[in-house]
Amino acid sequence: MSKSYKIALLPGDGTGPEVIREGVKIIETVAKKNNFKLDFVNYDIGGARYLKTGEVLPESVVEEFKKFDSMYLGAIGHPDVKPGILEKGILLKLRFDLDQYINLRPVRLYPNVETPLKDKKPSDIDMVIIRENTEGLYTGAGGFLRKDTPYEIATQESINTRFGVERCVRYAFELTKKRAKTNKLTLCGKTNVLTFASDLWQRTFNDVAKEYAQIKGDYVNVDAACMWLVKNPEWFDVVVTDNLFGDIITDLAAMIQGGMGVAAGGNINPKGVSMFEPMGGSAPKYTGMNVINPIATINAGAMMLETLGETKAAKDIDNAVIKALESGKIKSMSAGKMGLSTTEVGDLIASYLA
Ligand code: IPM
Ligand code: MN
Repeated sequence: MSKSYKIALLPGDGTGPEVIREGVKIIETVAKKNNFKLDFVNYDIGGARYLKTGEVLPESVVEEFKKFDSMYLGAIGHPDVKPGILEKGILLKLRFDLDQYINLRPVRLYPNVETPLKDKKPSDIDMVIIRENTEGLYTGAGGFLRKDTPYEIATQESINTRFGVERCVRYAFELTKKRAKTNKLTLCGKTNVLTFASDLWQRTFNDVAKEYAQIKGDYVNVDAACMWLVKNPEWFDVVVTDNLFGDIITDLAAMIQGGMGVAAGGNINPKGVSMFEPMGGSAPKYTGMNVINPIATINAGAMMLETLGETKAAKDIDNAVIKALESGKIKSMSAGKMGLSTTEVGDLIASYLA
């Protein structure tokens, strides 16, 4: 009997369903080819549902997700919902409740994809950024005092635990070893100012580094990281950083790899259920037009299969994406400028899986 995986599908809002449709097309094709099965269960979660029912993400649904092998998300976000509600109530809640403590964001320039960096080639832009995904400034610690008075105080605390930092740093060392590219792992922090939080990160990094003699540890301040990511992206192999710094530098990194149309991410609990998604949002203005780029979602699907242990299938997708890009038939990575529809890009990639 062939192996079977239970996948929770969360197409979500805006262009989410359009990209998920292509993602599912690709992973189903590759599953058939590699002799495993995918069982999808669809979940209507997102801004549209919240506006209709007032419900954001029921506790019982989070419990259901724990029984899946993985989760595949399109996009969450609605222009009519006040900022913070869906982010905190769905995306961050899932990361926290499912303890998806790694946010894995590969940054790779594919052939024929335009980068805004002059003279940089695919061999120059090929790194993985590992962002801690359950601590830092994202825990919601803090509050107001004397709100709406002239004496108001607002605090927002960065929570960094030895346990949380260490499991993230360990994951990063392991991945650097497994990748075996340049065996270089860069810690990104701000030790010159965050003398408590970044200090804990640095001490933890140095301690774990002792167990990995073959890995060259490096350090960069986050402001300088923004500079080097633009000027010398070839210096980076694997980067590990905290939640907010990771949020910021991965948007920058997404642009140098060709934009949100190609950037994929995984919210990973190495011992639990993980969730894979394109980095881009719901893109309301392109909704229903069949013009959004599905490649990021397809890449996220490959990451999902890789994490499930279907390495060969993941590699098949990667090769098909590369061949589709090499064909020159996709004119741009930007929504509305691809020269092909969302469906046609999916079909083109599927054709290289045959
Ligand atoms: C991301 C997003 C989220 C984050 C938002 C939508 C909560 O920007 O996945 O990078 O800040 O982590
Ligand atoms: Mn972000």
